[in-house]
Amino acid sequence: MIERRSFLAALPAAAGIGAAAQAERPLREVAAQRGMWFGAAASWPLLRDDEVYARHFAAECNMLVPENVLKMQVVHPEPERYVFIPWDFLASFCQKHGMKMRGHTLVWHQQMAPWFQRVATRENARRLLEEHIRTVAGHYRGKIESWDVVNEAIDVKDGVAGGYRKTPWFELLGSEYIDFAFRAAREADPEAGLVYNDYGLDYADEGSAAKQEAVLRLLRGMRERKVPLDGFGTQAHLNVASREKFRPEALRKFLGEVAALGLKIYVTELDVIDQALPDDVEARDHGVAEFYEAYLSAALDVKAVTAVLTWGLTDRYTWLARRNARPSGAPIRPLPLDREYQRKPAWRAIARAMEGRGA
Ligand code: G3I
Repeated sequence: MIERRSFLAALPAAAGIGAAAQAERPLREVAAQRGMWFGAAASWPLLRDDEVYARHFAAECNMLVPENVLKMQVVHPEPERYVFIPWDFLASFCQKHGMKMRGHTLVWHQQMAPWFQRVATRENARRLLEEHIRTVAGHYRGKIESWDVVNEAIDVKDGVAGGYRKTPWFELLGSEYIDFAFRAAREADPEAGLVYNDYGLDYADEGSAAKQEAVLRLLRGMRERKVPLDGFGTQAHLNVASREKFRPEALRKFLGEVAALGLKIYVTELDVIDQALPDDVEARDHGVAEFYEAYLSAALDVKAVTAVLTWGLTDRYTWLARRNARPSGAPIRPLPLDREYQRKPAWRAIARAMEGRGA
C-alpha cells in the first residue's frame, strides 16, 4: 500500500498549492528562458489600487498591455484633450518591474470618442487619424515594444470586397485608412513594432478560414505596398464549446503563412470561455487548461511567435465575467490565476507549452 506521504509527493504539480506552487518559476522567467515574452492585459485603476493584483502582475509578467486606457474614448475624450495619467502610471509600473509595454490600440471601431461622429468628415478624417496617432504614439516614443496600430479591421460578414469591416474610418476614408495609420505610427514612434491585431482566426471551420484568407490578403497587400508593418496579433479568445473545431495543423498552417511574410507574431488576448463545462471546478479547470495547452503548443511551434499575452491575469478581473457569466452564477475561470491568485492548471499549461518549445 502506498503511504499517504509518498502518494502526495507523487502527485503532479497540478495540485498547485502551497510549497509546490512556490517552487515553480514565474511565467516571465519561463518565457525569458525561451527568448519570449509572457504578459497580460492590465486593468487601470485596479493595478494602482489593488496591491495584491499588482504584486502578482509584476511577479508573472515581463510584458503588459493596457486593457482599456489607450482606446480613443479614454485617451482622447475631446478633440483637443488627451488623458495620459492612467498610461503614465502603467508605464512607470512597467519600468519599475522590468516589463515591456505594448500599446493597444490606435485605431478601432469600438470605444471611439463620442466627439468623433460630430466632428469627422471625409475632408478632415485623414488629418484626425494622423493627429490622434501622432499624439498618442508620440507620447512614449522609443519606449513601447509594439503597437496594435489597427484592431479588427476585417469582418467578412460585412460583405465588402476585401473583407473589410465597415468601420467609421472605412466609411470616411476607404480601406486606405489602414495604410495611413501604419505610416503615421512609424513616424510617431520609429522604434515600436507595428502590429495588425484581429480575432476569430482560431478554428478549422469556414468562419475562421474566410477570415484567415482576408487577413492574409490584407497583410500581403501591406507588404507589397511597403507599408511599415512588423507584426501580426492573433487575439485567441477561445471557447471550450468550440474545442472540437480546433486543429493544431490548421493553426500552424495559418501562422506559418503569416510568418512567411516576415512578420513577428503575438498571441495578444488569450483566454478560454468555460461556459460549456460543468460547474465542478476541477473538471472545468482541466478543460480550460487542456485548450490552453493544445492552442499554445501548436502556436509556439511557429518560431515567429514571440509573445503570449492573456486578456487579464486573474479570474478576479476578467471582461468575460459580464459577457459570459455562468447560468448557475458560479464565477467563471478563464485565466491562469484564480480569484485568490492561486496558479491554476491553465497556468501550468502555459508554462508547459512554453517549456516544450525548446531552448
Ligand atoms: O470605466 C467605465 C466606468 O467609468 C463606467 O461606469 C462603466 C459603465 O459601463 O464603464 C466603464 O468602462 C467599461 C470598460 O470596459 C472598463 O470596464 C466600458 O463600458 C466597457 O465597454 C469596456 O469594455 C472593454 C471592451 O474591450 C470595449 O472596449 C473590456 O473591458 C475590454 O476587455 C475589451 O477588450 C477587447 C479588446 O480591446 C479588443 N479585442 C476584444 C477584447 C474583448 O472585447
